Amino acid sequence: MADSRISSRNVALRDFPRLAEIDRTVLWHPYTQMREYAHLDSIIIERGEGPYLYDIRRRRFLDAFGSMWCSVWGHNHPELVKAIQTQASQLCHSSLFSVSHLPAVELAGNLVEAIREDFRFADDPPSLNHVFFSDNGSTAVEVAMKMALQYQNQIGQISRTQFLTFYDGYHGDTFGAMSASAIQVFRQKFAPSLFQCTNQSYPMQVDPDEKPDNWRMNDRNLEATMAGLSDKLAAVIIEPVIQGASGMRPLCEDYLGRIKRYCREYGVLLITDEVFTGFCRTGPLIASSAELVEPDIVCLGKGITGGELPMGVTVASDRVYEAFSGEWSEMKHFLHGHTFSGNPLACAAAIRNLQMISEYKLKENVKARAREFGQALKAAIGSHPRVGRIRQRGLAIGIPIKDAKGAEDAGYMARADANKVCAAALQNHRVILRPLGNVITIVPPLNIETQHIEEIVRAISEGLKALG
Ligand SMILES: Cc1ncc(COP(=O)(O)O)c(C=O)c1O
Repeated sequence: MADSRISSRNVALRDFPRLAEIDRTVLWHPYTQMREYAHLDSIIIERGEGPYLYDIRRRRFLDAFGSMWCSVWGHNHPELVKAIQTQASQLCHSSLFSVSHLPAVELAGNLVEAIREDFRFADDPPSLNHVFFSDNGSTAVEVAMKMALQYQNQIGQISRTQFLTFYDGYHGDTFGAMSASAIQVFRQKFAPSLFQCTNQSYPMQVDPDEKPDNWRMNDRNLEATMAGLSDKLAAVIIEPVIQGASGMRPLCEDYLGRIKRYCREYGVLLITDEVFTGFCRTGPLIASSAELVEPDIVCLGKGITGGELPMGVTVASDRVYEAFSGEWSEMKHFLHGHTFSGNPLACAAAIRNLQMISEYKLKENVKARAREFGQALKAAIGSHPRVGRIRQRGLAIGIPIKDAKGAEDAGYMARADANKVCAAALQNHRVILRPLGNVITIVPPLNIETQHIEEIVRAISEGLKALG
């Protein structure tokens, strides 16, 4: 094997073969078949600016999947970079064990206020007033699950040890999050080591004006299941508005409200996993606020720092928080923590991100751009014989590629055609997209502009020619 040490940050073009060799043989990429990757042309990114990434061979790529769905302002937005640099000159890290630090205090306060703003039309002001930091989306979910279990235990509901989750849901790759997830291909090899959750259907509604026929049946099943498990369930966990990893499957309108109602009725907590849907990806900061449904616990990640630094956040209601109060000897305090929870650099980015969301009216922008993107896709590829019904909520978009028989729900293993389109878009237009099974997903930066939308739509439209 080649010597894998790199001595200089100023990489010259002639270094590419050696770097590519290391990239293919030493660096182990996530969710990637490395044997297949070894035959691809490595794209080694050197810098980013706006929606574009530039590789060490001086090529420019349009990042249409928002660096795994987290990009809010594109890459290296000068205001976020400045906030991080200013913070770095003062304090790069200090933990939240024993002491506190300024950026974490400021962010916690600002976040709670911003959540309040999202729920301003609700009958009661929200009680999501307690912010627990971790360092990625999976841990935000893991924290929520432990919080729910410890809460139920401490209010005397010791038989409430189970979770109700939804088919095709995805909540992350740690063991609790994996247990709550239900995309079989991701979890089947670990299944014997996972704990059992009760799964329910997630009724999909593609057209915002057309409720699916099956929603009543799903609703009845859901209520019956929750009633049957009424002394066993600790919490329901759901991706509100749209399931991401299962191929952008929008949730039936008002369904979240039904779930919340049953949670109240049967003493079960509602956890919304908004790691993907939150932070304006689907419009509001808190995705569930679109239907004025207030969860007991909400999980955030990805876009919270503008997508520039890793951070996970779990926000809990007063009711949950109060159950953790007691004497030290009662051991009621939350038994969880990470070294880098609430890292100051990530907090500084998140503080500026929150300010920018309001200063630049991001929520309104997402609404307008989402409409524009949807219309552009419909006009360019809506009637293509291989394109199924385009699924979209905000700037989370899925384009199902139909199989030869016209079916559009072929599942995760049927990725060949969507993969071909994405490969053509990359090869011919330098647009980075990622297929999920037979669905092409588009998750662009939220400040995307018309010219970038056009670039992505053209790349997909021409990429479809690869299907023959
Ligand atoms: C809904 C949802 N929850 C949790 C996660 C896990 O986040 P992370 O990759 O930061 O661990 C993801 C990641 O895609 C997600 O989409």
